[in-house]
Amino acid sequence: MAKAKTIYYCQNCGTQHATWMGKCNNCGQWNTIVEEVVEKNVQEKPWQEEQSKTPVLFNIHEIPQTGEMRIVTQNHELDRVLGGGIVLGSVILLGGEPGIGKSTLLLQVALSLPQQKVLYISGEESASQIKLRAERIGIQTEECYILTETQTQKIFKQAKNIKPDILIIDSIQTLESHYVESAPGSVSQIRQCTAELIKYAKETNTPVIVVGHITKEGTIAGPKILEHMVDVVLQFEGERNHIYRLLRAQKNRFGSTSELGIYEMQGNGLREVSNPSEVLISAKDHALSGNAIAATMEGIRPMLIEIQALVSTAVYGTPQRSTTGFDTKRLNMLLAVLEKRAGFQLGAKDVFLNITGGIRVDDPAIDLAVICAVLSSYENQALPDNCCFAAEVGLSGEIRPVNRVEQRIVEAEKLGYDVIFISKFNKFKTSNHQIRVETLGTVADLYRMLF
Ligand code: TYD
Ligand code: MG
Repeated sequence: MAKAKTIYYCQNCGTQHATWMGKCNNCGQWNTIVEEVVEKNVQEKPWQEEQSKTPVLFNIHEIPQTGEMRIVTQNHELDRVLGGGIVLGSVILLGGEPGIGKSTLLLQVALSLPQQKVLYISGEESASQIKLRAERIGIQTEECYILTETQTQKIFKQAKNIKPDILIIDSIQTLESHYVESAPGSVSQIRQCTAELIKYAKETNTPVIVVGHITKEGTIAGPKILEHMVDVVLQFEGERNHIYRLLRAQKNRFGSTSELGIYEMQGNGLREVSNPSEVLISAKDHALSGNAIAATMEGIRPMLIEIQALVSTAVYGTPQRSTTGFDTKRLNMLLAVLEKRAGFQLGAKDVFLNITGGIRVDDPAIDLAVICAVLSSYENQALPDNCCFAAEVGLSGEIRPVNRVEQRIVEAEKLGYDVIFISKFNKFKTSNHQIRVETLGTVADLYRMLF
């Protein structure tokens, strides 16, 4: 019997190697190269048939203009992240850790489209499991078809019969094509199945949404080239033990990648959070020390978040600095600024910092709120409960301007705050705000004003 042809693939970047190596010399990752069996019979591959046709050459001015046709789903957060709905013929990859809610989100979209026919392919769950979940979510559509199949050729056969308006694949790692010999989930299978799905999407003008699992390192399992092949890459993320989930676009050929969708996981599926600020700030009876509100931006979406700090005397030798949702190094830097520029003795204190709601924020504009929360806890004095903050803090204790300050002010005003503290170097139009805008130059100014 002839020896089966095998190729060594890097599972990170998809490079082919002639032999096994410990380290991929293309992307530099260790232990990512695996052996895969591939069939040699190349002529059969479906998308290569048309290469005999002469390609058509276009002058850019002669290409007819066709507007993008989009399917607007009932899911406003998803529509917004996609840039206004699902573009016909596009291939969307939805990545996320196991158990984060990818299947729930897509099933919910499938069940809420009253006018479209949806074909939902599940390689992971049985039809009765999906039915159970669907009943919890609520079925509003007449035409949602479930197929538990993993062979792409059989899937396309069903798709040809049903002619769905949207095809959903859960997940790409379970699919297999009979043109490739290796196991489902391997690089060559994922690449082949994706190529077939893309061909199907472009030829029938049907949008295809594909679920992709995420590896421990946070990349979509399978080669990076998968991300290059598809039109849109969405990332579904969140802390597993918290109820909030964030949907971001990492790549979008039909819209901006700065939009953000927020969901709340409930007993009956995912609820859209259209006003994030309201849920991210916890309700209390009276102001507590160590709490400060920051006006932050997630992409282009302003929202107010609550920052909590606890400063206490260190009982053990080395003081602890611990954060959730915020960079610990940045906290250390801010504490050093407070110590050196404003004379607070924080060197012997434990400092704990927490952003409520379990979300992660990288926006430097929350620096000022972090400092206020720390000072409030240090002084054991609550901040006035109607004020919020939006500014970056520099190494010399100066309060620095931030981008899109107008939008932050408007959001704070909309949520009923009376005062917002910003940098005095931030330029903005003064006249049209109800909210009082206080401007600060240094950390020392801040302390004088608040305590
Ligand atoms: P799931 O969509 O199966 O995750 P993924 O496909 O990303 O692996 O979501 C699973 C989690 O969601 C599970 O831990 C239970 C939770 N969940 C709810 O809290 N409420 C619900 O209505 C549903 C359907 C799931
Ligand atoms: Mg799933």
